[in-house]
Amino acid sequence: MTQRTLVLLKPDAVKRGLVGEILSRFEAKGLSLVAMELRTIDSTHSDGHYAEHVERDFYPPLRDFVTSGPLVAVVLEGDEAVDVVRLLNGATDGRKALPGTIRGDLSLSNRENLVHGSDSPESAAREIALWFPGLAD
Ligand code: RTP
Ligand code: MG
Repeated sequence: MTQRTLVLLKPDAVKRGLVGEILSRFEAKGLSLVAMELRTIDSTHSDGHYAEHVERDFYPPLRDFVTSGPLVAVVLEGDEAVDVVRLLNGATDGRKALPGTIRGDLSLSNRENLVHGSDSPESAAREIALWFPGLAD
């Protein structure tokens, strides 16, 4: 089933010059670019994106991180795109993510883990509306 999903190449990906490397993995897999923008977000936008996490202990440093510099917001489309992106991203903690995944190959951190991918079709719809309100589907 064709789906859309919201992907973030987080500020560590931009700072480390890994945007091309990471995007190329999604493209090589066969996912299509629907929208893409380099953007620096404020804490209000972070709170909206991470609504499910705002009360967690790890959220304040996560908010500082995602607002620390430019990131790349991307909408990808393809068959089972939500789950496919999360498989390519790998486990949340880069130290535990399997080799072959983006985090497993390129991250050694549980926070600075380079990428975000929507965790369900419902989350994808909510996140795409937040990041790209002009993208009606
Ligand atoms: P994401 O939302 O970024 O795709 O990552 P995820 O589903 O694998 O992980 P999630 O549980 O949604 O956590 C969101 C982001 O918060 C940071 N995090 N820090 N214990 C910690 O310090 C901790 N746990 C999570 C990570 O940046 C994670 O991607
Ligand atoms: Mg998540």
